[in-house]
Amino acid sequence: MAKVTFLPLGRTVEFNLEELPYKAHGKPRSLLDVALNFGIPLEHVCGGNCACTTCHLVVKQGAECLSAMEEEEEDRLDMAADLTLHSRLGCQTIIEKDGEIVVEIPAWNRNYVSEGGESSRTAEKRSGS
Ligand code: FES
Repeated sequence: MAKVTFLPLGRTVEFNLEELPYKAHGKPRSLLDVALNFGIPLEHVCGGNCACTTCHLVVKQGAECLSAMEEEEEDRLDMAADLTLHSRLGCQTIIEKDGEIVVEIPAWNRNYVSEGGESSRTAEKRSGS
């Protein structure tokens, strides 16, 4: 079983990696796809195509269970706000083996989480302001 905790929500989900349905956002078994499978709001403006940084997560525990970072993700992450040594893009980071993983959604992206959906930043972009 894989176990993923999303901070600061404090939501923990457990699932069988082989049985997780693919929600077509990011790579199959990506942290973004896991979040969407369980109704955990994680912004993904580009739809999980490694073309934005809104799915930015900081891995606090369980990095050994995750895929290695590819060059495309590394290049995109360079543009992320609040970049840390443990930053990853949720849509590109695949859970490769069972274990306990803890990730934190960075502060700048938490409005989306606390509102349970579209962030004010995204809403502003859509309204053209
Ligand atoms: Fe855009 Fe992950 S959703 S880079």
